[in-house]
Order: sequence, then structure tokens, then C-alpha cells
Amino acid sequence: MKFSLASERVDSLKEYFLKKVSHRIHSDDFWALKDISFKISKGDSFALIGSNGSGKSTLLKIIAGVLEPTIGKVSVRGAIAPLIELGAGFDPDLTGRENIFLNGAILGHSKKFMLEKYDEIMDFAEIKDFEDVPVKNYSSGMMARLGFSIATISKPDILLVDEILAVGDFAFQRKCQDRMQKLMEGGTTVVFVSHSFSDVERICKHAAWINKGNLEFVGDSKEACNRYEHSEDYLKSLSASDDIQYNIDSIWSPNGRETIIQGWAYSKYGNVNILLPSNVQGKVDRVEREDVVAIKHLNGSLLDCGFKIIVNNKDLDNLKLILKNKVHTLTIRV
Ligand SMILES: Nc1ncnc2c1ncn2[C@@H]1O[C@H](COP(=O)(O)OP(=O)(O)O)[C@@H](O)[C@H]1O
Ligand SMILES: [Mg+2]
Repeated sequence: MKFSLASERVDSLKEYFLKKVSHRIHSDDFWALKDISFKISKGDSFALIGSNGSGKSTLLKIIAGVLEPTIGKVSVRGAIAPLIELGAGFDPDLTGRENIFLNGAILGHSKKFMLEKYDEIMDFAEIKDFEDVPVKNYSSGMMARLGFSIATISKPDILLVDEILAVGDFAFQRKCQDRMQKLMEGGTTVVFVSHSFSDVERICKHAAWINKGNLEFVGDSKEACNRYEHSEDYLKSLSASDDIQYNIDSIWSPNGRETIIQGWAYSKYGNVNILLPSNVQGKVDRVEREDVVAIKHLNGSLLDCGFKIIVNNKDLDNLKLILKNKVHTLTIRV
């Protein structure tokens, strides 16, 4: 897929035409995708992974037929329900109710069918109180919920889901994933873009890792995540913004011999490993907290790990905790 990037600023349409006819408009060609070739079988669940700007959305748009590839071709067998851009297919001035019928028509459903399914769509999207409000006043989460609810109301042959679901809250993302799972059980092919390795590994059998428009790997989803996670490309995308957050909730000595330190550590990207210096006698117990609805970031797996550290009282003076994730090391004096 080749995009033309204008290398010159044009301030008016008139100027554009004048420059265009005198061939003074220059543009640089940019290949957003190159030499990509793979096959997704019927009923498969397939993820596209890779850092921002690698070409995932462009590829979904080509599959959906929204973009025509410059060279090459995509053959699609079956009806597609695309969830590619937030609010695509919605008229912002129309209400939620009106947009349901508009979208239904775009997806090829009759008015009768949409009337029958109306309540179910509203219930799933959880926006009943806003059905007569123009969609331009919806939050991005509400828009994503409505879009997903409409697209999945009948069983599409192929469901394309870009990152739009990431704007919804955690509970809704789970609900969408459950529905995707049901559709897959019924034979729908799902193509899914996500930054969450845990979601990709849980939902998808296969995945393609795209790096700057090139196909790096296609195959088993775990293998794809593993290769991407250990790439230069992934580390670069992390180091700019990652940090480790932690808190120590309590420190107490139950018996005069040992001290127990409890708290939590959290990283947007990947596990936090808690280490004790080698001259300290003690151990780190990991406690995954199921009761905490962990904060979910666009880029990461879900990690909010409570910890309990038990150390010998005689080591308290030189006790440091070393918190480590993929790119940072943090040393805390307790
Ligand atoms: N319409 C367009 N015109 C020019 N460049 C584009 C256009 N759409 C996307 N791009 C560029 O193509 C590359 C891939 O974009 P995209 O498919 O959105 O990546 P991803 O979804 O993986 O983050 C990016 O460098 C982006 O800037
Ligand atoms: Mg994208």
C-alpha cells in the first residue's frame, strides 16, 4: 500500500489547482505495507500486532475494502462486519436510535430485523438513557459500545476489530471479548488488532507481526507475541514512556525475628520482578490480586501485583527492594 505524502504546503484550493496543472505539486511516496502475503482460514481468530504506525489499521482497511491496495490483491469470502474507526458509519447529528437503523442498512439488514433487535442492541451497549441523544454528544466509550453492539448483532462471516475497543472500560472489553468468543464458536472469522499480549494469546489462535509495513512473522499467536515482545522494535516503543509504580502498604514484625512488608507494584508493560539483594535473607511472595480491577493501559498486559516480602530482622538495615521490568530497574530503600 503506497501513500502519497504532500511535501509542500498549499493554502487554498485555487493554489492547489494552479500548482497541479503546472506540475508544481510534489509528493513523496511512502509504502505503508509492502510484500505482505498470508492466508486466514475460515473460522480462525487472527491478530495483527506491531508498534504504532506499522500498518495494522491500513491492512484492516484493505481487507474491509475501504482502501484499494496499490499493488497486490486481497480476496475475501463472506460478509464483513468492520469495526475499524470509531464512529465510522455513524452520522454525528443523528441520535443513537437513528444511527442504529442507518448502520443496520449499511450492514444490509432490513428495518424489520433492526426493529426486532433494537432492544438487544441497546442493552448490550448500555446506552438506553441516551437513545435519543445525537451521537456527537456521546463519549468515545459509548460510541465504541454502540458500534460493537450493532456490528455483532447478526453473525457476520468475518469480524474486523481495530483498537477501538480499547477506549471502552475494562468490564465492557471483557463483554465484547465474550461476544467475540461466541461468534467464533459459531464459525465467524475474527481479525483483531490489539496491543495486549494477554488478550491476543487468549482470543487468537494465529497472529501476524508487522514491523514498519513488513511482515515479520505469521503463525501461532503465542509465538508471534513472543517474537515481537523480544524485538528491538518493541523495546523502543516501551522505553520512552514506561515506568514502575509501587506502594508499600505496611511493614510490621509479627514475632521479633522477621519483618513482613506488603504492598503492590505495577508496570504498564510486562511483569515487575521484585528482587532482594543477595546479602539479605528473606523471600518474596507474589500475590496476584484478583479483587483489584487492574488499571488497563492500551499498551500492556494486565498487571497489578500485590507482594509480600518476609525478611530477617537482622537484615533490615541494609534492606533494599529492586523492582525490575523489561526496561527499568528501580531500587527502593525500605
Ligand atoms: N491516508 C494516509 N496517508 C498517508 N499516510 C498514511 C495514511 N494512513 C496511514 N498512513 C501512514 O501509514 C503508516 C501505517 O499506519 P497505520 O496503518 O494507521 O498503522 P497502525 O494501525 O499499525 O498504527 C503510518 O506511518 C501512517 O502515518
Ligand atoms: Mg491503528
